[in-house]
Amino acid sequence: MTEMTTSAQHLQVLALTVFLVCAAAVTPAALAQQQQLPGCPDKCGDISIPYPFGIGARCARGQYFELECNRAYSPPRLIVSTHRQHLVNLSLADGEAIALINAKRQCYNSTEGLVTDANVNKEVTLYGSNAYRFSAARNRYVALGCPNMGYFVDGTGFYVSGCTSFCRPSQGSGASGASTGGCTGEGCCQSRIPTNTDYYEQYIQTFKPGEGDPILRGGTTACRYVFMAEDKWIDTTYRDTPMFNRTDDFAVPVVLNWAIRNVANCDIAKRNRTDYACQSDNSGCVDSIDGPGYRCNCSQGYEGNPYLIGGCKAYLLELVLS
Ligand SMILES: *[C@@H]1O[C@H](CO)[C@@H](O)[C@H](O)[C@H]1NC(C)=O
Ligand SMILES: *[C@@H]1O[C@H](CO)[C@@H](O)[C@H](O)[C@H]1NC(C)=O
Ligand SMILES: *[C@@H]1O[C@H](CO)[C@@H](O)[C@H](O)[C@H]1NC(C)=O
Ligand SMILES: *[C@@H]1O[C@H](CO)[C@@H](O)[C@H](O)[C@H]1NC(C)=O
Ligand SMILES: *[C@@H]1O[C@H](CO)[C@@H](O)[C@H](O)[C@H]1NC(C)=O
Repeated sequence: MTEMTTSAQHLQVLALTVFLVCAAAVTPAALAQQQQLPGCPDKCGDISIPYPFGIGARCARGQYFELECNRAYSPPRLIVSTHRQHLVNLSLADGEAIALINAKRQCYNSTEGLVTDANVNKEVTLYGSNAYRFSAARNRYVALGCPNMGYFVDGTGFYVSGCTSFCRPSQGSGASGASTGGCTGEGCCQSRIPTNTDYYEQYIQTFKPGEGDPILRGGTTACRYVFMAEDKWIDTTYRDTPMFNRTDDFAVPVVLNWAIRNVANCDIAKRNRTDYACQSDNSGCVDSIDGPGYRCNCSQGYEGNPYLIGGCKAYLLELVLS
């Protein structure tokens, strides 16, 4: 009798275990949901806010990771408290954030006299938070419209990167925009940017009609722009709708890389276990590739938030399927 009860109980326990494993396995997303400290908001509109980021001082890992959710906008806007950039995406897995940043615009009359210098975003900065850098791998610097030599300088005033954009005489004002298959020099050009960039000051240089090499005396557009942009945006959105002839203000996605940067790398970070950001068991440390610092990831077979105690959970779906 006792034996039968025991085996019945075993069966129940087994059934319950199988049920729990299956329930957990079919909802792996539920495991990944705990992304914040207790009592801290984990969303701003549709954007997830995983720790070390947080809304307000109590919820973030120090001031560099503090965010604000501005509900005066619909949908609400996620703003970095220190440098005020507007974020539309945050990711723990690849250490990226996507910011929306306005292009700098200048418009000219027929004799290349400056008509409007919106002077918006001449200086674009990530100063105030040492966590972020403009991703050198995922951004390009763009000059749009023609004739346009667009470039940016660093905090000490030295030229960093830029390019020149010209149009054929038939293009530009009054002409239909010929698609050149992307941003390749005609109406739009792009250049690479160096790693470790956290500030840039943008310039637009035009050319007087009749000046310089005749090959540069092509069509003109009313407005010229310079901006940093995500490579994917240039290769898809811009390629599909070349917009060198536009005259309005607009914002483009820019990829920011973030890391824990109060120490140089993982080796140094691991020496102080209370300050070490990779708080979860079954987590690892990855050195930053663009400036000092490190990021954390969950070990193989685990998923979740490596920055939280107990944040990395066994990935049961893989266990069950294997
Ligand atoms: C935000 O990130 C998600 C997941 O990585 C991606 O699917 C989405 O396209 C991104 N949105 C923007 C605006 O980049
Ligand atoms: C263009 O603007 C410049 C200065 O802004 C001005 O001196 C010039 O007369 C203007 N030219 C025309 C054709 O309006
Ligand atoms: C370029 O701008 C001119 C003047 O605004 C306009 O007439 C022309 O249609 C535009 N071309 C394109 C391709 O948008
Ligand atoms: C370790 O980090 C904590 C928190 O940042 C700090 O207060 C403490 O002084 C550090 N300890 C050492 C030995 O550096
Ligand atoms: C964590 O990052 C390291 C370094 O990039 C990588 O080798 C490792 O595969 C990552 N772990 C997982 C589970 O992705």
